[in-house]
Amino acid sequence: MPLKAELHCHIEGAAAPELVIRQAQKYGRDTSRYIQNGSFVWHDFTSFLATYDFSSDLFRTEEDYARLADHYLTSLARDGAIYSEIFTSPDHASKAGLSPKAYTDALGEGMARAKAKTGIEGRMIVTGVRNAGVESIEQAARFAARCGHPLVTGFGVAGDERIGDLEDYVRAFEIAREAGLGITVHAGELMGWESVKAALDHIRPSRIGHGVRAIENPDLVRRIADEGVVLECCPGSNVALKVFDSFADHPFPALKAAGCKVTLNSDDPPYFWTSLKREYDIAAEHFSMNDKALAAVTRTAIEAAFVDRKTRSALLARLNGAAR
Ligand code: ADE
Ligand code: ZN
Repeated sequence: MPLKAELHCHIEGAAAPELVIRQAQKYGRDTSRYIQNGSFVWHDFTSFLATYDFSSDLFRTEEDYARLADHYLTSLARDGAIYSEIFTSPDHASKAGLSPKAYTDALGEGMARAKAKTGIEGRMIVTGVRNAGVESIEQAARFAARCGHPLVTGFGVAGDERIGDLEDYVRAFEIAREAGLGITVHAGELMGWESVKAALDHIRPSRIGHGVRAIENPDLVRRIADEGVVLECCPGSNVALKVFDSFADHPFPALKAAGCKVTLNSDDPPYFWTSLKREYDIAAEHFSMNDKALAAVTRTAIEAAFVDRKTRSALLARLNGAAR
């Protein structure tokens, strides 16, 4: 089994339906509209976000979040992951009644528990949510910049790409960049290649969340390859959300062949019937990648991770040791 690393997973989106049902029982909420036959109910991106928001609202206390992070990272480690970056959303936590600091500390506690059990290294990327508005995104950036939590090493923007322009978020990203945080932004998932170009022009991220619709413009693909921007690809999510009709239509192999740095990620695993392990299995089955090629994807992820030099070297040493 190849060692794995994940750069793109929304922690609220990692909660399985069974866990969400347990949380709903705890807080006296009815899940029947959002979970049916053990599966989350959604039919497009808008209804996916509604179910995601409903479930997120059922994580309310520090222990709820600590257990969520512990559970997710422990399951990743059991599937062979040595590194995990999770997207956090202070906006969702605030709506559920927990301060950004208490939320972040709790997730950090869960990550520490998972590391103590399995050795998995983890970091947090604070995200602003586009559908929550520019002010909320800048607030998230200010929190990320000043929170001082040692595991918060990045800032990003997620949510509904159809809302707002990337230029609206330049100030938020500047706040984060000045604080020394790594930068990633969702683009080229729901919107076309123009959104990826706008991300590169205005936000200048080292990584792009998805970015796969860059494939619509060969000049842009060349630019991504030349600039060494890393794409956080989530094929299972893309096919579930019908960004592409099938894995055979997914541009992961074409982007890789064009020299783009590509990684494999689960996004919101139970919503899209996936896991990081399944993403590696999809790449093996549909993109003809053998264990050596998959290990190279893990290496790309570790090289692009928002970690200090010492941690990166230790992770690369683990990967090299496993390859021998
Ligand atoms: N938030 C959670 N999952 C997301 C996705 N796939 N795209 C954008 N925002 C998200
Ligand atoms: Zn995402």
